[in-house]
Amino acid sequence: MNILALLRARFKPVLEPLTDEVGPLLEMIRPAGDPKFGDYQANFAMGLAKKLGKSPRDLATEVVESVKLEDLCEAPEVAGPGFINLKLRDEWIQRQLENAKTDPRIGIEKVDAPRTYVVDYSSPNVAKPMHVGHIRSTVIGDALCRTLRFVGHNAISDNHLGDWGTQFGMIIYGYKHFAEKEAYKKAPVTELSRIYRVVRGLMDYFDAKNQMPQLIERLAERTADYEAAKNAPVPTDKAEAKKQKKEVGRFQSQIKDLNEAIESTKAKIAKTEDSPELKKMAEEHANISTAVLQETVKLHEGDTENIALWKEFLPFCEDEIKRVYERLNVTFDHQLGESFYHDRLAPVVADFEKRGLAKESEGATCVFLDGFKAPMIIRKRDGAFLYSTTDLATIAYRMEHWKPDAILYVVDFRQGDHFEKLFAATRLWGYTNIELKHVSFGTVMGEDGKPFKTRAGATVGLEGLLDEAVSRASKIVCEGDDKLPDGPVLDEAQRKQISETVGIAALKYGDLSQNRESDYKFSYEKMLAVNGNSSTYMQYSYARVQSIFRKGEVNIEALRTSGAQITIEHPAERQLAVAILRFSEALDDVLLDYRPNYLTNYLFDQLAKSYSSFFENCPVLKAETTEQKNSRLLLCDLTARVIQQGLELLGIQTVEKM
Ligand code: ARG
Repeated sequence: MNILALLRARFKPVLEPLTDEVGPLLEMIRPAGDPKFGDYQANFAMGLAKKLGKSPRDLATEVVESVKLEDLCEAPEVAGPGFINLKLRDEWIQRQLENAKTDPRIGIEKVDAPRTYVVDYSSPNVAKPMHVGHIRSTVIGDALCRTLRFVGHNAISDNHLGDWGTQFGMIIYGYKHFAEKEAYKKAPVTELSRIYRVVRGLMDYFDAKNQMPQLIERLAERTADYEAAKNAPVPTDKAEAKKQKKEVGRFQSQIKDLNEAIESTKAKIAKTEDSPELKKMAEEHANISTAVLQETVKLHEGDTENIALWKEFLPFCEDEIKRVYERLNVTFDHQLGESFYHDRLAPVVADFEKRGLAKESEGATCVFLDGFKAPMIIRKRDGAFLYSTTDLATIAYRMEHWKPDAILYVVDFRQGDHFEKLFAATRLWGYTNIELKHVSFGTVMGEDGKPFKTRAGATVGLEGLLDEAVSRASKIVCEGDDKLPDGPVLDEAQRKQISETVGIAALKYGDLSQNRESDYKFSYEKMLAVNGNSSTYMQYSYARVQSIFRKGEVNIEALRTSGAQITIEHPAERQLAVAILRFSEALDDVLLDYRPNYLTNYLFDQLAKSYSSFFENCPVLKAETTEQKNSRLLLCDLTARVIQQGLELLGIQTVEKM
């Protein structure tokens, strides 16, 4: 039951005769910011009255007289210039809670018109270890799938693995030149990761060396620009003078950036040149970048040796990511990687050409799109296909086999351009009746505000991150005897298992509670904070309820069906009750623009906070009467169930004891 949706539906027939555009007015019915204005507030009267040439208060009064709300709300109140304040009836709230009490879905209805969604997430480039950046796509995508399914949609998850790109050229080249066969036999994954890093290191070294002259040239240019702008006579016109000053500043900051880039490029070069061993290797593999590309091309052209190696390596790479997914408790319906589409790429290009949607330009096949400066290239001059070509083939496949209403791509914001072009090309291709959405997310930053790296400057491996979170969680779980319920009751095995659950949860929640489009600073302390918007706090709230049941020897399942009633007396009970009933609104908010942080906000700001104040104000086991005690136990139970369900939709488990 989405209360907000219900209220809007009641206002709709009253507003419709007054305006052509009722949608924006209905959106002005919102939860009240302050409980003294009731539970909800409608603010449309002011704007609408102006258009109708009426007084807002009169209009608000007219609307209030016609809208049918008696069963749901107390008599609406017109306040101030024309606000309509709405307060839910206590009996109505009680009735909803009574229904939710025994409903496994806690009163959340399924959608009337289920849609089919394909959710493309995680999708790492395998053959290199997963790193911190993969957390976001994986947990956001998983949370969206879970939420879509819970409200009744059909969500098809597809892990679009990068299993066919240059990184395989890299490990094939590396295997041929650097592999230690014994080590590979013993621990193939470790050896392949090592090989990957060796090749990556050499390629980075040559890239850095190639970039250096350009960087120095650009620095010289900017410095000259800067000098010229600085020494130019100051224009008499104020605006012109301001413009000139701004330009000087711009050059200055470009110079600063270039100097930084030069420093870090120098460091990369030094890393190889300072080591005699690496330097010798670099000399012996001076053409490594071209050679890697050649290995990739050979693979794509079906070279027997490379295909055999690829087939040998791929399962190892898959095992590697599977281990991470198991720990994260993330599964996929499909794992159709880029390689799956290989044979479909030429036909895609041919189809674009046949329909006159692609043109040749400088030997490459290009799709020119309205509103874009550069075309989308779907075949390079040398005949190679691109990431875009694969994505087009993937869309065609998904449309043919799964007939989705929407495809969501949970991918880093840096691929924004790619997806804009891809979506435009897809529409041009004729798929107009589908929602295509780039569910974009920002970067995970370190405490220093720069992309999260290890001290040595390497990207942070995902497994190490999980281990660290779990090890820190174990401290909370073990040390919490005084702070957390039931601490001393836990035995060693329980602690280990709870630490794993609490640690992984912290990592997931820490990510999901961010606005996905923002960068965020990775902090174990914040993630695992016992007080604050963290999974630890939510799990703790849940465990606290369970501990009440244990302490009071309450058989809560029996109580639910016992006929015991929920009665709202204290304001803190009422506030908690309304918070429980607003779960549905939070879920709808999540799906409006695919933002799981609306759910974490709800769980923390509304539910957990209301529960805290309820807990402070309303004794449960020591309630005055049995009726009151039972009613409060049932409220505790509903709170815990919403927390549990909410966390589950985020891919997070609860624990009975902490
Ligand atoms: N493998 C890509 C990467 O790591 C992400 C793929 C996203 N999905 C897609 N259909 N393009 O950058």
